[in-house]
Amino acid sequence: MNRYILILLALALSCSNGHGTANIGKADLGDIPTKVFSVARFQFEILERGATDRTAPRTTQEGDEVIYSDIGWWCSGFFPGSLWLTYRFTGDTTVRNLAAKHTHKLFALIGRETDHDIGFQIMSSYGNAYRLTGDKSLPPTIKSAARKLAARFSPVTGTIKSWNNDRWSYPVIIDNMMNLELLMVGARLTGGDEGKNMREVAIKHAKTTLRNHFRDDWSTFHLVDYDPSDGHVLGRMTVQGYADTSRWARGQAWALYGYTMMARETLFDQNAEDAALFLDAAQNIARMILSRLPEDGIPYWDFDDPSVPEALRDASAGAIMASAFAELALLSSDRDLAKECQDMAVKQVTTLSSSEYLAQPGTNGGFLLRHSVGNIPGGTEIDVPLTYADYYFLEAILRLCGK
Ligand code: GLY
Repeated sequence: MNRYILILLALALSCSNGHGTANIGKADLGDIPTKVFSVARFQFEILERGATDRTAPRTTQEGDEVIYSDIGWWCSGFFPGSLWLTYRFTGDTTVRNLAAKHTHKLFALIGRETDHDIGFQIMSSYGNAYRLTGDKSLPPTIKSAARKLAARFSPVTGTIKSWNNDRWSYPVIIDNMMNLELLMVGARLTGGDEGKNMREVAIKHAKTTLRNHFRDDWSTFHLVDYDPSDGHVLGRMTVQGYADTSRWARGQAWALYGYTMMARETLFDQNAEDAALFLDAAQNIARMILSRLPEDGIPYWDFDDPSVPEALRDASAGAIMASAFAELALLSSDRDLAKECQDMAVKQVTTLSSSEYLAQPGTNGGFLLRHSVGNIPGGTEIDVPLTYADYYFLEAILRLCGK
């Protein structure tokens, strides 16, 4: 604990913009950023000790024992990503060195069979490394990963295939929207016809998903299965939610984040027409989520679990939403909605920073947040820490700080 207090004292940085009403784009989080990044700095040194060249932290089991996964697991980029975000706030070179170490081991993924999650894995690790350091040795790996992801696209379905298995014909999950960032960034780094193709694949996937995944109220199904021979939809269902027709919270969060990110990326490319389409989708998804969140902003794991309000909360979905709301607040053309998004992001970050969710230093196996839900139907990762909850929580704070 003494070491934690030293870290806390050493952190002179804070993103507070003084007291009073928050402006869109920079919120007043008081001492939350300093507190959270101090805990992160302390916790992650514990967490990284058990990871080898082939493994990454995943979650905990009884007694706060950390479970590590093979780096092929879809979450392997989030721990190095959290280290990069901690470096961004603290400027601590020890953290930077740890971030680089846990990033570079993911290079092995480029030579392996992977699935759509290569986007999560490489963007949170290599993507942040490149964004924050500009190190010119990093783009070749990002470009190779984008090439692997683009190769999963079918012009018949108009989508990237999510998973390689026989349970479905051509499964596409809403989570896949997140992986498109790798293609948009990879397109710029690659350039030429290949880069153009990566960008077109990302935009086509986002448009097809917009057509086939969403219900009338702007909630999303988890999985759409396509016929790969003619592209027609074979079925719409859930894998990790309460029911096929329910609103699985993390799926809604991926949708919100995914379309917000595509609006940003197409705006960056000065593609006004597609940016308007994706921004409109993100705003509609935001309105649907905002109308359903509980008072403290942290969603139940599935909005439609009949046991609500006794149902479990999912801190990971709350963290992903917070980060997306913080970005959408900057992009939205509807100023009232922008204010609602920013206020909700602040509320979610504030709740997640409370003792209910934020770990006491030295507990929780070295993870930051408690109370996430991975896969209730699969019977795994129920009410536990998860690397992506930590990652998007830190990202949300940095975004609210304007960093
Ligand atoms: N991409 C898997 C999940 O959200 O659990």
